[in-house]
Amino acid sequence: MLIKDTNKEFPKDFLWGSASAAYQVEGAWDEDGKGRSVWDEFVRIPGKTFKATTGDKAVDHYHRFEEDVALMKEMGLKTYRFSIAWTRIFPNGKGEVNEEGIAFYDRLINELINNDITPMITVFHWDLPQALQDEYNGWESRKIVDDFVNYASMLFSRFGDRVKHWIILNEQNVFTSHGWLMGMHPPGKVQDMKMFYQVNHHAFMAHAKSVLALKALWPDALVGSSFAFGPAYAKSEKPEDAMAKMDYDDLQSYYWMDVYAYGRYPRAALAQLKSMGIAPEFEAGDDEILKLAAQNIDFMGVNYYQTTVAEYNPIDGVGMSNKINTTGKKGTSEIQGMPGIYKNPKNEYLKTTDWDWTIDPEGLRFACRDITSRYDLPIVISENGLGAFDHLENGKVHDPYRIEYLKAHLIELKKAIDEGCRVLAYCTWSFTDLLSWLNGYQKRYGFVFVDREEDEESGTLNRIPKDSFYWYQYTIKTNGSELEE
Ligand code: BG6
Repeated sequence: MLIKDTNKEFPKDFLWGSASAAYQVEGAWDEDGKGRSVWDEFVRIPGKTFKATTGDKAVDHYHRFEEDVALMKEMGLKTYRFSIAWTRIFPNGKGEVNEEGIAFYDRLINELINNDITPMITVFHWDLPQALQDEYNGWESRKIVDDFVNYASMLFSRFGDRVKHWIILNEQNVFTSHGWLMGMHPPGKVQDMKMFYQVNHHAFMAHAKSVLALKALWPDALVGSSFAFGPAYAKSEKPEDAMAKMDYDDLQSYYWMDVYAYGRYPRAALAQLKSMGIAPEFEAGDDEILKLAAQNIDFMGVNYYQTTVAEYNPIDGVGMSNKINTTGKKGTSEIQGMPGIYKNPKNEYLKTTDWDWTIDPEGLRFACRDITSRYDLPIVISENGLGAFDHLENGKVHDPYRIEYLKAHLIELKKAIDEGCRVLAYCTWSFTDLLSWLNGYQKRYGFVFVDREEDEESGTLNRIPKDSFYWYQYTIKTNGSELEE
């Protein structure tokens, strides 16, 4: 569209935010009664993470959260999205609650509110209790649904008086594909397609029942889950490429978003899975619960980093590869695909980051428009950001590339809003630098530089605001009205 004469400002009450996840920032991995998560174990398997980095110490947010919140206040941040470590609340995944864990998040929430920052909680950002993995293989068992809802309900009852914004699951598509197809996240399984779809069904049920539990307790809460949405462009005008895009959409995007928003799987995707004998098994009543939860979500959470290209893939074409760039050496990722259906070649029109992620601000607008057309739901951009090598020079970090990246994405987001998309919040990834799961500490995302490297003993962990910190501060102050100048 070409909308003219629009107000330059973002909507009143727009939530300018930034995000993090417990395992990536907190550290204190075995303190104050915390149990072990699957990530605490996985990072100790040789070869799994870049230079064997762990989140044992991470950026020590657990001990420095007051300093971090003070910086958020200085910046003028309106919302901070963070996740809760399940193992701080229930060290064994269930059973007796660990009051020290509750107390930590109480302090964090109160600190945010006292500084006029709206807390936005992610219930699950991948750090499943190892005890549940050991007992029944975690997400592989239907038992996870009740334990998840028990955990989520504890958060709702203890924090729901002060927290109104809830994201149940972070990137269900990523933790399941990396965990059961690519072997790159716990439990490290490869090409276990049948289990991949079953695990996803369990996660959908955990999401749905948690949404209903939250609304039963706090009807005015706002809830959704966050999907890693990488919209696809058809490679060419060939009908077979248009069909490859449609197949990709149904199998890789709508497969998740349709369940959140409509409470049902895309028909073509289910037909494909049934023909392969890998469709998920339902229990009686699942359909109704998924549909009821879908009627109760308030927004679609979107983590947007990049777009992809869909091209027809012959039956003897490329499959799924676990060769992804985790070193920052450009050009070390491989093309992925599903033989006979689609593949995702390079987009010749887009630049890429050092980790081979395409840089496509218009893709963010495309994503918002697609969600709005298909679901007509409000949107929370729960992550968007640039992973880059940053350098501390004479006490300063100059990151014009990050400013350029975020600014271009915000300009496109504003166009999407002008075109009718209801965007409630925009959270950058991330506030401080943090551990990038597979890529170590050298892939930095923050507005605030943290002095540490891969090695656990390195650095002072001091916080140093980057140039982008001051740019975002000004953008918030002017409510985005000067982005195009
Ligand atoms: C998302 C996750 O996948 O993207 C974050 O929700 C993650 O936890 C972020 O850190 C960036 O990915 P990466 O692999 O560069 O850390």
